[in-house]
Amino acid sequence: MKHSRRAFLEAGLALPVALSSPSIGAPAAATVTPSMESSFDPWVEIYPQNLRHNVDEIARRVSGRPILAVIKNNGYGAGVAQTAQILDSHSGIFGFAVVKFQEAVSLRRAGIRKPILLLGSFDEDNLSYGAQLGIIPMVYRPVGSILENIAAKRQEPVPLHVCIDTGIGRVGVPYRDAPALIRDLAGRKAVSIQGTMMTFTEDPDFDKEQLRRFNETCALLEEEGIALGKKHAASSFALFQHPDAFLDIVRPGMAIYGIYSENEFRHTNILDLRPAISLKARVIYAKKLRKGDSAGYNRAYMAKDDVWVATIPVGHADGWPRVAAKGAKVRINGDLYPVIASVSASHCIVEIGSEEKVKIGDSATFFDAQPGSRPEDVSESCGASVYDLTMHLNPLLPRRIL
Ligand SMILES: Cc1ncc(COP(=O)(O)O)c(C=O)c1O
Repeated sequence: MKHSRRAFLEAGLALPVALSSPSIGAPAAATVTPSMESSFDPWVEIYPQNLRHNVDEIARRVSGRPILAVIKNNGYGAGVAQTAQILDSHSGIFGFAVVKFQEAVSLRRAGIRKPILLLGSFDEDNLSYGAQLGIIPMVYRPVGSILENIAAKRQEPVPLHVCIDTGIGRVGVPYRDAPALIRDLAGRKAVSIQGTMMTFTEDPDFDKEQLRRFNETCALLEEEGIALGKKHAASSFALFQHPDAFLDIVRPGMAIYGIYSENEFRHTNILDLRPAISLKARVIYAKKLRKGDSAGYNRAYMAKDDVWVATIPVGHADGWPRVAAKGAKVRINGDLYPVIASVSASHCIVEIGSEEKVKIGDSATFFDAQPGSRPEDVSESCGASVYDLTMHLNPLLPRRIL
């Protein structure tokens, strides 16, 4: 049957989805659901082998102590459920810690069976639902009577970890008030204290004083016969700096993702960490600027000579920090090119040089596991914190597990 143009238009009106397809006019388009993603969209890659390697390394460093993996803030950008699913079966992993209640629930819904510690805030409903799901709250306020109600309904004590503030001043019961709170909680049948914890300020000298306060408080209570469960304090920083703070379990985040929390730690031989996360995209445009041409808002870049530049669809809304324009480099076809002008919400521009070495569609790496483009390299080149590089990755970017 011959299709007239009129018949095609009528069919198109009845099938608006087909009309919006890039393959407009192709007969098969009516049956294929068009993708909402573009092959030019940036993506995040996750390297499970490196995640497992980093856990092995940490376990070696802490002489086999169990690891409570902090995977808050969407798994430091890698995806909270994705990280937990990769690590759940690892024998070194004791459990997972997150900040948002919603993340804790999402882990259970993703089939994670190991203990989940909720480091963040909660209301009474969260406590009750969390108890059903085996989500353990970190407690530092007098919530004993609420826990009594929940335990009564469930006919079993509510497990929790107590957080003591030894000087960070954020959350946690001040160490001077901790004995009274812990005595109150420990005295209730409704409560099962499974852990006691603190957080360092990461000021090396003051950390020693913090640990002294913590140990002294714990010793006082233990002498009274109060069981404090597993004691923990060590984040990634302490893995390098404070072996005396490894205690019963350790609680690193960034090191699990293979990134040195402080740039100087990579020059020690304490841990061999391998980045488990990368940010990539493809070049959407390459063009030659003439001498005197400008690029970026406020003409932040002025071409001193004729120069090739490439535009990549990654901006600060994707998690690539604005400060990257102050020295960060992007790897394309094996070479590193400086970010120039300014990073806008959805784009950045790199300077290629006098030759047309880059073309549309070439893949561009913002950070990955290779020397020169590790997160720490980006951090050193432009002053961005490695925490900002990964944790600010837009959760909508696709995560590809390799
Ligand atoms: C309470 C607590 N413990 C452990 C960590 C893990 O820290 P890091 O990623 O530096 O290892 C964090 C993260 O900020 C935290 O808030």
